[in-house]
Amino acid sequence: MRLTETADVWWKNAVVYCLDIETFFDTDGDGRGDIRGLSQRIDHLAELGVTCLWLMPFYPTPDRDDGYDITDFYGVDSRLGTHGDLVELITLAQDRGMRVIADLVVNHTSDQHPWFQSARASRESPYRDWYVWRDEPPEDADKGIVFPDQEDSLWQYDEQAGQYYLHQFYKHQPDLDIANPEVREEITRILGFWLQLGLSGFRVDAVPFLLETKGSLDAADLPDPHDYLRDLRAFLNRRNGQAVLLGEVNLPYKDTRTFFGDEDGDELTMCFDFIGMQKLYLSLARSEPAELVKALRERPDPPEEAQWGTFVRNHDELTLDKLTEDEKKEVFAAFGPEEDMQLYGRGLRRRLPPMLGNDQARLRMVYSMLFTLPGTPVLFYGEEIGMGENLAADGRNAVRSPMQWTRDPNGGFSTADPDQLAGLVVEGELSPEHVNVADQRRDPDSLLNWIKLLIQRYRECPELSWGKYTILEHESPTVYAQLSEYEGGAVVALHNFSDEPAEVTLALAGTGVGVRVADLLTGKTSEVDNDGTLRHPVGPYGCCWLRVLRPDDRYII
Ligand code: GLC
Repeated sequence: MRLTETADVWWKNAVVYCLDIETFFDTDGDGRGDIRGLSQRIDHLAELGVTCLWLMPFYPTPDRDDGYDITDFYGVDSRLGTHGDLVELITLAQDRGMRVIADLVVNHTSDQHPWFQSARASRESPYRDWYVWRDEPPEDADKGIVFPDQEDSLWQYDEQAGQYYLHQFYKHQPDLDIANPEVREEITRILGFWLQLGLSGFRVDAVPFLLETKGSLDAADLPDPHDYLRDLRAFLNRRNGQAVLLGEVNLPYKDTRTFFGDEDGDELTMCFDFIGMQKLYLSLARSEPAELVKALRERPDPPEEAQWGTFVRNHDELTLDKLTEDEKKEVFAAFGPEEDMQLYGRGLRRRLPPMLGNDQARLRMVYSMLFTLPGTPVLFYGEEIGMGENLAADGRNAVRSPMQWTRDPNGGFSTADPDQLAGLVVEGELSPEHVNVADQRRDPDSLLNWIKLLIQRYRECPELSWGKYTILEHESPTVYAQLSEYEGGAVVALHNFSDEPAEVTLALAGTGVGVRVADLLTGKTSEVDNDGTLRHPVGPYGCCWLRVLRPDDRYII
């Protein structure tokens, strides 16, 4: 049996959709989305073609970092609902063929977490060693600060504790000491708990930070942190053979590769492709895919059953931290020239449509790229309808506006007063009046229907998710051409990064006589010359998914 004919390795051709319950749909009128609201709107996601929901943190939290500051890893924030609501949601999702994963944020806790409260109160506390303490901050305390606008050190003096503690993120997020076996065991229990409740895995927050042990004084004697990740993965799959770990690892490719583990892939099941994402933006800015091509050629293949996670936007700033200063400036100039759009000097707090001036052809081309690039596509809520940002919101909250369901006040997200909402509603050209689910459902030419089509075709093409891909050489610098092959099937994807029409001449080796290609997005067919030469036009910001058809092939186009 071919693995593609089973759903065993489901993540390799999944469609992941990330959302924050808080900003999705509010059923009790308090201005905050809730789990029941998400349950009510589950069919929107099912119809879109989503196969895996990624829930951003829903745990009890003082909410100083949008829920990434947790006070109880086993709890559900009562403002969002109950464990009962969550189990109902998971059941509904499963009925629609969707799995549910959630953020696992165990690099740190909130400083309000009872463990930290106990730890800081006394050196004798059983939780003291769950965090990383020092009498004096190390000399490099100001190196590697993640939020430079708010923090100037990785170490914070705590009056009550009489010592400094490590916090790689905000100072209200003390790092757990992963080198402590008790902490490791507790993390395992957390995984076990949520798996038992029905989750199919986790998006693991800040993985390199989680595994970092340099803060521990006796670091030299510590076991290899990758052994721990390996143990965690083994535990996960003992409990649930189909569960996954989707890791946030933003490092150079060769370092990221190590987080997949050995050749059998015994650590993270998926890693986000942060480099590919950044080079995609650089390529868009230049109207030429050359930089993306270079990155993809350098990108290591993941182990056979692992996968890259590809994405265009997420809930954080669009980070450009792996580009050179000049490259970053180019992307800023093209997509976020105003200072207010930029964040931490390395990213943009924007969504894609406004960056592209809401150019529908270009936008559609980018999403078409997302679904053809080798990797599992991950969408951020609202992308399917082309939501924008609201720069009046603080920092990264600019891209975390309430979901836009209808033209009604608050975009139909909530009946509360606008100043009670969990996020600022988008205004202007991309406000709910112009961009909403209800209108786009009825409009056959909407972005929503375009993305549905892309998802359907992507799910129908095992070549894209399972196959071997080759970047095809040709003479047209503005077009990205990729051949994906799997078990005799072949799909050629063409994407034009420029607003000028282009034509490509490709050599499709070994295709034989009587071969045609059919565009899976339009149904149009074209002939391939007997020597395997294909000449094909690609419109301004055009995209084509060409299935190679031999005379006796029986595909439905
Ligand atoms: C990750 C999350 C980000 C959060 C940080 C600290 O980078 O994506 O939103 O602020 O971790 O938990």
